Amino acid sequence: MDDKTHAPNPDNFRWDNDGTADVLPGTATRPTAGEPLASVIDRAISRRALLKGSAVAGATLVIAPSALLAPSPAAAAPRHRDPGSRLTFETVPPGNEPDIVVPPGYSVDILLRWGDPLTPAAPEFDVDQQSPAAQAQQFGFNADLVLWYPLPRLVARSVGIRGRLGAIANRSLGLLYPRLATQTSRHALVVVNHEYTSGVDMFPGYDSAAPTAEQVRIEIEAHGFSIVELRLGDDGRWRFERGSPFNRRSTGSTPIEIAGPLRGHALMRTSADPDGVEVLGSLNNCAGGKTPWGTILTCEENFDQYFANFTAVTGASRAVSERIPAPDGASERRWEDVVERFDLAKEPNEYNRFGYVVEVDPYDPGTPAKKRTALGRFKHEGAAARIARDGRVAIYSGDDARFEYVYKFVSAGTYDRFDRAANLDLLDRGTLYVARFDVGDVAGDDMGDGVWLELSPENPILADWTLEQILLDTRGAADAVGATPMDRPEDVEVSPQTGKVYIALTNNSRRTEPDEANPRIANEHGHIIELIEDDPADLAFRWNILVKCGDPAVAEHETRFGDVTDPIAAGISPIADPDNLVHDDDGNLWIATDGQYFSGSVGFGQNDGIFAVPVEGTDRGRLRQFLSGVPGGEVCGPEFSGDNKTFFCAIQHPHDGEAFAKLWPTDETRVSRPSLVAVRRNDGRKIGR
Ligand code: FEO
Ligand code: CA
Ligand code: CA
Repeated sequence: MDDKTHAPNPDNFRWDNDGTADVLPGTATRPTAGEPLASVIDRAISRRALLKGSAVAGATLVIAPSALLAPSPAAAAPRHRDPGSRLTFETVPPGNEPDIVVPPGYSVDILLRWGDPLTPAAPEFDVDQQSPAAQAQQFGFNADLVLWYPLPRLVARSVGIRGRLGAIANRSLGLLYPRLATQTSRHALVVVNHEYTSGVDMFPGYDSAAPTAEQVRIEIEAHGFSIVELRLGDDGRWRFERGSPFNRRSTGSTPIEIAGPLRGHALMRTSADPDGVEVLGSLNNCAGGKTPWGTILTCEENFDQYFANFTAVTGASRAVSERIPAPDGASERRWEDVVERFDLAKEPNEYNRFGYVVEVDPYDPGTPAKKRTALGRFKHEGAAARIARDGRVAIYSGDDARFEYVYKFVSAGTYDRFDRAANLDLLDRGTLYVARFDVGDVAGDDMGDGVWLELSPENPILADWTLEQILLDTRGAADAVGATPMDRPEDVEVSPQTGKVYIALTNNSRRTEPDEANPRIANEHGHIIELIEDDPADLAFRWNILVKCGDPAVAEHETRFGDVTDPIAAGISPIADPDNLVHDDDGNLWIATDGQYFSGSVGFGQNDGIFAVPVEGTDRGRLRQFLSGVPGGEVCGPEFSGDNKTFFCAIQHPHDGEAFAKLWPTDETRVSRPSLVAVRRNDGRKIGR
C-alpha cells in the first residue's frame, strides 16, 4: 500500500491503456467517424436493398424489443435454471495493493515469469546476462492471452516418440477434444501471448534514445508466444514441466507461414521471401481464442509501431495501408536501425505481412504457425469461434482502435470432428463480414438489431475491389460498406452455453457523436455488448448493452449493469475499461480490465482486476470483483481449466512506469517481470461457486 505514495505518472504510461492505437499511427481519421447517425441509417437502408443475396432484407427492423433478449430457440438452454445465483465468492474491494488480492479461501500461484527457462537447455534468467539466444528459449515479456488445453496421454506419447503429432493421434484428438476440454485433466498445455516489450522495464540503465543492437534483438525474441506443458499436483497446484517436448517459443523472428488468399500475392513478397509464403515472426499478439478442433488463434494487434518510414512507401503497397499507417519517420523502438526489414524505405511490403490472426496447433510442435489472411488485416484483438448448424465455423474478431469495427468470418468448409487434419485449414476459405449496429424499434433503449455486411467483391459496393485488396485494406473496405464505428472493440467471446457473443468496448474519450451501440459521449469507462444470432452463419443479429462500466455510486458515470435497478444494494463493484473476456462453465462472463487506474479524465484510482457477471437469470448484470491486480499492471488472458477448478490470468507490465521499492512478483528492483498466475480454491472446488 505504501508503495502507492509513489503515484504513477500518467506520462510514463507509454502504451496508453494498451490502446496503442490512440497514441501511435493507425488511428488516421476515418471518413465516417463523425457522421451523424441519421445519415448512417439512411445509407444503411439504401445499401440494404443493394446487398446481393442478403438474408436481412428489412426483416431486422420489425423485431419487438421484448423479444430482443429472449434466448434464441436454437441456443442451448443454460444448464442451470439460475446460474448467477451460484456465484458466491466474497467480493474483493477495489484497491491498489502492491500484491494480487483474491477472495478469502483462495490462493495465488505464480507459474512462470518473464525470463524463466522453458527448456532443459535454456539458461536461467540473469538480468545482467541477457542475450537474444537465451530469450528465444525463455518465457517472453508482457504476458497477455492465456489459453488452457487438455493434454491426452496418447497425444503426449505420440509427440514424445516422434517429436510431432502422428496421424492416428491427431484423429483421436479430434474426437476427444470437445469432451476433454471441459473436464479435469492432470496434464495440460497452456499458451501465453507476449504482446510487446518495453526496454526501460527490461534492461537496467536502458537508454530509450539509443537502444543497443543487442537490446533490440532481445526485445524481438521476447515477443510472440509461449506454449508450455503444466502438470496438476495432488495439492491442486499446477506446475510447469520444463522437460516437456511441447514447450516452445515463437518469437518475433520465428518463421510463420502465410496461408489463405494472400499467400504468394505480389504485395506479400519481399527480398527475403520472393514467393510471399513465409514471414519472420508474429508481433503484438494480444488476445485470441480457441478453435473447436483445439488450435490456438493468436491475434496481431498494434503491429504498426514496429515499422519506420511509411512515407517512403508508394503505389499499391501504400494504398492498402492508408487506413493503418506505420510511422512516417523513425519508429520509437528503432528496430529499423538493427533489422532492415523493419525499415519500409528498404522493404515496403514487409508491413503487409502483419496484422493477422495466426493459427497454431499446440499439440504438434512439428508444424509451423500460419497467418490466416482470409480473416482480414487490422488490429486484431480477439478471435472467438462458434459452429453453425450446417457445420461452417464463424470467427468473431474486434479491431482495437477508436472508431474501428467488429468483424465475423464464416468458413466455406465445414467442421468435421472425425477429421482433425482437414479442420486445420478450414480458416483459409470463407467470407468476411463487418457489423453494422442499428437502432431497432426504439431509439435510446440500449438495444437494437444489426446486419453483417459482406466484405467481398460479391458485395456491389465492393465490386471494384479485389478480394486481396479487401483482405489487405480491411478497414478501408469496412468504411466503404458503412460499418458502425465502435468504442475500441477488444476481446470477443462466445458463450459456450448459449452461443451469445460478448464484445468488450474498452473506452473512447474522443467520441463526440453518440450512436445507439456507443451511446456515451467521451465514453470514459467502456461498455460490453451482447450480440445474439439464431445461427452464426446468419447475417442478421440482435444486440443489447449488458454493462455500461463506471462507478455505480457516481451518477455522472451513467452506468448500467444488466437490468439491476439498485446496483449499490446489489453490491455491484466499480469497473472501468473492460478488455479480455472468458466464460465459466455456468455461462457467467469473467472480465479483465486494462487501465482502470487512469481510466477517464480524473482516473479511477484502483488496480486492474477480474470481475464476474452472470448473464442469464435473475442475477443478470450483478457484476462483482474477484481479483485485484498489482499497481501499473494490466490483468490479461482470463481462462479456466476444463474443470473450472483453476482460474488463470496474466499480469502484464507490472509497475509500468513506476518507481517501486519492490517489483512484483520478485524482490528485483530494476526490472519488471510479467507473469502467468493461477488462482485456486483452498477446498479444491470450482472457482467462484
Ligand atoms: Fe493489446 Fe487492445 O489490447
Ligand atoms: Ca489488452
Ligand atoms: Ca434501440
